[in-house]
Amino acid sequence: ETSVEHLIPQISGTKDQQQAVNQIHDQFNITTEKATSIVEQFIEEMQKGLDHEGATVPMIPSFVTGRPTGDEKGKYLALDLGGTNLRVCEFELKGGGLFTVHQQKYVVAEELKTGEMRHLCDFIADCVDNFVCEYGSDHAQADEHLQLGFTFSFAVNQTDINRGTLMHWTKGFNCSGAINKDVVIMLQDAFMRKNIHVNIAALVNDTVGTLMANAYRHPDTSMGIILGTGTNAAYYEKLTNIKKWRGGEQVFEEMVINMEWGAFDRERRVLPLTMYDNKLDRESINPREQLFEKMMSGMYLGEISRNAILHFVDHRVLFCGLSSPELNKQWGFETSYMSTVVDDNSADLEQVRHILEETLQIPATTLGDRQVVQVICKAVGRRAARLAACGIAGVLAHTKELDNESAVAIDGSVYEFFPHFEKHMMEALEELFGDQATKRIKFSLARDGSGFGAAMIAMMAHKAALAKSK
Ligand code: GLC
Repeated sequence: ETSVEHLIPQISGTKDQQQAVNQIHDQFNITTEKATSIVEQFIEEMQKGLDHEGATVPMIPSFVTGRPTGDEKGKYLALDLGGTNLRVCEFELKGGGLFTVHQQKYVVAEELKTGEMRHLCDFIADCVDNFVCEYGSDHAQADEHLQLGFTFSFAVNQTDINRGTLMHWTKGFNCSGAINKDVVIMLQDAFMRKNIHVNIAALVNDTVGTLMANAYRHPDTSMGIILGTGTNAAYYEKLTNIKKWRGGEQVFEEMVINMEWGAFDRERRVLPLTMYDNKLDRESINPREQLFEKMMSGMYLGEISRNAILHFVDHRVLFCGLSSPELNKQWGFETSYMSTVVDDNSADLEQVRHILEETLQIPATTLGDRQVVQVICKAVGRRAARLAACGIAGVLAHTKELDNESAVAIDGSVYEFFPHFEKHMMEALEELFGDQATKRIKFSLARDGSGFGAAMIAMMAHKAALAKSK
């Protein structure tokens, strides 16, 4: 157990502000002991998810069974929906672990995210059409359909490699007419309506894509993780452990599981939710859902910090009790601001001042104010990293992966840009497993891996379908 006391920062503000700092530290600190009980509960929930349908952590079989060899070849499309942008890509796999890519990003308007699913599908189809016409290579001129891997990063109950029904939306999406419907059929219909010759060969979660993309280069990759707008993980599971599997003939030994770990602890057994988390949850469009995700991912970290800042404004500990319309607005404190705030090492916290006074229009701030805000952002980020470590620890303990060298592929803005995120994760893993074990865990940034992974899964699925039809 590391000493907690030494981590409480001493600031130069008022007595009340120092007290606020102590309080924040207490509320957001996850001790080694707490982390241990989170991991235990997490493993229990994983097992329930593997055992039966309807568990809190759904542990969804992805229908992806093989490992890539690196020798895959051919041109495939990938479509990525669920992060900040919609991305369409064309990959050319060249074998020997090499590939080239063209890609185009499209902005998904807020109205589309919460409108009718049919409109969203029409929009996606238009983007694919635009991409194929403008950027795609000319190999589709004949009748032959292009094969596409569809990365759809939501909780989908997968029924085949290219079939799956949406269980629920997450991350601020809430289109009507989609729940319990097959998302591939809906999108394929939109392609048909618009006479677009593209076949959706695979439906892929971003974590599964990230895992496969990394495995193309590093065959010992054991997990794919997203720490971005949302958070989730995928890993290889032995088929004999997937007790709920009813998929018939078992010619393979392992399958990638899309965990949907963001749903962890719906029952609020172990997660140390603060009043700031509860407020965020209550005001979100999916209250009581995705609690783990809400404590950890980019969509929410800024909002947790905003709630904490406002709490201390209301108690007249910050900004002489004065807020601003900008700070009062839900989602008004973006997670990207936190990186700037945490990274500010200057004596008078000039960057923090800029965000508070210029961006958020707080009339005047003292050094003490800025220090408290920095402490809040650091604490929220560190807690997120330690929770991520708990999830990783749960998976690695369950798969006994710690006995071997293990490569963990991670993508997402929080992992990539939040200061010291990986360091905090490693610290927590070391507290849980000791430094011998953690020396065997290698994190690697798999930037934009999910599209590539989806294209490769589309290729594997298309080849399997061709072989079957012969
Ligand atoms: C949300 C989605 C999940 C996705 C994750 C990361 O948790 O439900 O499917 O993998 O975000 O994008």
